[in-house]
Amino acid sequence: MNAQLLDGNAVAAATRAKVAAELVEAGSPAVCLTTVLVGEDPPSQRYVRMKGRDATEIGMASRHIDVPASASQDQVAEVVGALANDPSVHGILVQLPLPGHLDTDAIIDLIPSAKDVDGLTRSSLGTLVRGAPGLVPCTPLGVIRLLEHYGLDVAGKRAIVIGRSMLVGLPLSLLLARKGIDATVTIAHSRTADLRDRCREADLVVAAVGSARMVQRDWVKPGAIVMDVGISRETHVDGTTKLVGDVDFDAVGEVAGWLTPMPGGTGAMTRACLMENTLLAARLQGIL
Ligand code: GUN
Repeated sequence: MNAQLLDGNAVAAATRAKVAAELVEAGSPAVCLTTVLVGEDPPSQRYVRMKGRDATEIGMASRHIDVPASASQDQVAEVVGALANDPSVHGILVQLPLPGHLDTDAIIDLIPSAKDVDGLTRSSLGTLVRGAPGLVPCTPLGVIRLLEHYGLDVAGKRAIVIGRSMLVGLPLSLLLARKGIDATVTIAHSRTADLRDRCREADLVVAAVGSARMVQRDWVKPGAIVMDVGISRETHVDGTTKLVGDVDFDAVGEVAGWLTPMPGGTGAMTRACLMENTLLAARLQGIL
């Protein structure tokens, strides 16, 4: 292993401690994060449980609402609308993906921008495009926080983001290109030609597609920063399963300068940034 580790667990712990200290300093106001899960997908259930636990551990209140998978658009809208109007709720997170019969964008857009701790509403994403301050999606923010923590300056450098999702790829590309970060960004996707060669030109590679071990050793320029946001479940012949990232960790670790582990990399930062965003949401609502 040649690469230095971008230790998401350690930076996430420091981020949580900072948010906890800021809450105490503000007189421990009752800041409340509320998560909504439609359906019973086990990984999603696990994710929202962890988010609630993180909040409690740092001195925030947390609430969770389960909605049956069969709920109609109007029923889900009623749940989110009630949270939007509840002054004791400061952050609202609707866990994605929603069941296929629901209009995700319409539901997300019911969240007031000041409570949009996921940064996914039309208004929050518009604010991001404008380069104005506001709540930005947690995974892209976590990637930026990791770069900042390790003092990795990508100004004027070439970055490639593989994946163009609303949750990660697109907002991250905008953040990396933003004034003050100043990377030159390529957004790659399933139809990108010569993807390996495009990656090999990059000083920063962020993989966010969910394709197991796609980024191989010969995709990476020696010394480059490689950040793994992908996650997929591999099933072995004996029936056991394992979570794997988009980056072949052992092989890429031989050539990269910096590399995120999986787990303990960008995923840990996503959850910590949700706490940071909930604190900011409370501030935007005049709570502290
Ligand atoms: N599902 C997977 N990641 C996320 C996330 O960051 N936010 C929400 N709302 N759903 C997700």
